[in-house]
Amino acid sequence: MRIATLPAPDDFDAWRDAARALAAAEVPPDAVVWQVGDAPVDLFAAAGDADAAPAAAPAGFSVPRGFIDLARSVVMANDPERFALLYTALFRLRREPRLVEDHADPLVRRLEVLAKNVRRDIHKMRAFLRFREVEEEGGASRYVAWFEPEHHIVRANAAFFVNRFAAMRWSILTPEVSLHWDGKALSEGPGASKADAPEGDPTEEVWKTYYASIFNPARVKIGAMLKEMPRKYWKNMPETALVPQLIAGAQARESGMIETARSSVGGNVQAAWEALRDEAAACTRCHLYKHATQTVFGEGPVDAAMMFVGEQPGDQEDLAGTPFVGPAGQVFNRAVAAAEIDRTRVYVTNAVKHFKFEQRGKRRIHSKPDTGEIQACRWWIEQEQMLVRPQVTVALGATAARSLLGRTVTIGRERGRAIALPDGGEAWITVHPSYLLRLPDEAQKQEEYARFVEDLKLAKAALRD
Ligand code: URA
Repeated sequence: MRIATLPAPDDFDAWRDAARALAAAEVPPDAVVWQVGDAPVDLFAAAGDADAAPAAAPAGFSVPRGFIDLARSVVMANDPERFALLYTALFRLRREPRLVEDHADPLVRRLEVLAKNVRRDIHKMRAFLRFREVEEEGGASRYVAWFEPEHHIVRANAAFFVNRFAAMRWSILTPEVSLHWDGKALSEGPGASKADAPEGDPTEEVWKTYYASIFNPARVKIGAMLKEMPRKYWKNMPETALVPQLIAGAQARESGMIETARSSVGGNVQAAWEALRDEAAACTRCHLYKHATQTVFGEGPVDAAMMFVGEQPGDQEDLAGTPFVGPAGQVFNRAVAAAEIDRTRVYVTNAVKHFKFEQRGKRRIHSKPDTGEIQACRWWIEQEQMLVRPQVTVALGATAARSLLGRTVTIGRERGRAIALPDGGEAWITVHPSYLLRLPDEAQKQEEYARFVEDLKLAKAALRD
């Protein structure tokens, strides 16, 4: 029997290293015991087998990207069997390379359910965590929140909170681990108890804008809402008093009895979006605002089921203040129409909201945004996503994909399939229309354009009615 000891309950990399080495050594799943401990990783400390060393992955065995994505989520599930289940799947993948596509397979189904529960918990933490202000020595403010996740998702959410509340000093306390942000660096501490967190009213100003942007009343489904917002979270939320009204509004809408309720509730989302757009007009989160003419914010209906994300405005968009109106926009419009998507019913935006260029004589030449600029601008796209809550988001090109998924993406590998997003929506990745414009060979251009349209059709087909 092998004992694989992982250093933390959510440590995907440690699981992957251990699993790869075990698979390479042909260790069958039922001969491995997985455990999480404080001890340093000691993956092969099986009794009587002290010299077993991690081996390289077997030649020719490549793990599909879809499995890696699934495993990254599953590792965070609060299920003691998760590591063993994943290892069983990995072991089978060597003979069944398309295993993860078999959604009827009981193991795959079980892993998918675990991943979905984890994603939902990630989203809940983002939506329902509440800070309370405390005064530290010297009079500085710190914002402290208590949260009890169901899964091991706290570390995975750290970057989200750093991004959103970069200018505040905050601590998030949870039973398993605590996170502390001092405005510059993130540190981790031991778990805490609810008694360690301050009582009292949550800090309303911090949440007013935030809440308006995450709660899209136009999408309220009562059953889902009660499931999504268990009472244990309600007591932490200043806006809880609004919930019965929102539910009543949703009921009225669902029964179709009070048509005006729809427009007044929908109006709130529109107003929140307008406030966001106005705020973005003054954005100085990175240096790009200094040379661009204006912020080019997203446009389209706030209740769109489909969102498109481009890279950044081009020369013409910068002058017009509207996304996708230049040459790439024309290709985009043509392809959208060819895929039978109603352009007026979709929300179109960019990963980066200011035009980045190099001045050459009179011409302004497009220059690719770097990781820091994409990261700085994620603030806006996340807000747009939370407001619009599209079922399907199509990332046009690698910059958009990086912004949406928070990692480097190889388009050729990821196009043509759905990638689950933490808010329950789906991302679809395809090429950027300007890539098509740049292709020198006419035949290849036609071919790639047809593929682009096919990608858009697939994304459209993923929409629920
Ligand atoms: N390219 C983009 O990515 N977005 C635009 O708005 C225009 C060109």
